[in-house]
Amino acid sequence: MSRTWITHSERETRQLGERLGAHLRGGEVVTLCGDLGVGKTQFAQGIGRAVGIDTPLVSPTFTLAVEYEGRLPLVHYDLYRVESAAELDEIGFLEMDDARAVAVVEWADRTAAPPGAIRVDFELEADGARSIRISGLELPEPGGSGSRAAAGQSAADASRAGDST
Ligand SMILES: Nc1ncnc2c1ncn2[C@@H]1O[C@H](COP(=O)(O)OP(=O)(O)OP(=O)(O)O)[C@@H](O)[C@H]1O
Ligand SMILES: [Mg+2]
Repeated sequence: MSRTWITHSERETRQLGERLGAHLRGGEVVTLCGDLGVGKTQFAQGIGRAVGIDTPLVSPTFTLAVEYEGRLPLVHYDLYRVESAAELDEIGFLEMDDARAVAVVEWADRTAAPPGAIRVDFELEADGARSIRISGLELPEPGGSGSRAAAGQSAADASRAGDST
């Protein structure tokens, strides 16, 4: 089960991340996959905001992992520079001290995802918009069942429903 959303600005991408983050209860792994500059960090920032982290997440490109404390603990990984499984062992990849911790993993397809991970695939569209496919978590329309959000620029309004790949 997956669904694809279209965002037209970094703000919309953050908001979509925030909506996903609002559904996290702790212990989830969220993998973010897609090319350089496609919006993974913006999306991760939205997740961070939703789990109550009040500083913006910065990309841990050189450190590989950064831990934050919010309503839930969050560990933000960026595997772009990872070259071997040994490096992942060294940083204790996905070895959480706290079972409630949420892991957000940029460049997650550098390694195998754990079973049950929520997967988010980002693609750049020809017009510069981002197509963002969320698999493994059902994200409802904002406003709840039966009430569609007012027309506007929100990511959800631009969603492409019915993608069931
Ligand atoms: N719809 C959009 N969603 C997200 N970012 C957008 C969008 N349109 C333009 N941008 C721009 O694209 C860039 C996305 O950067 P971001 O750091 O989130 O990408 P990334 O996927 O994390 O890159 P990297 O692979 O280098 O970590 C930002 O500069 C942002 O302003
Ligand atoms: Mg990034």
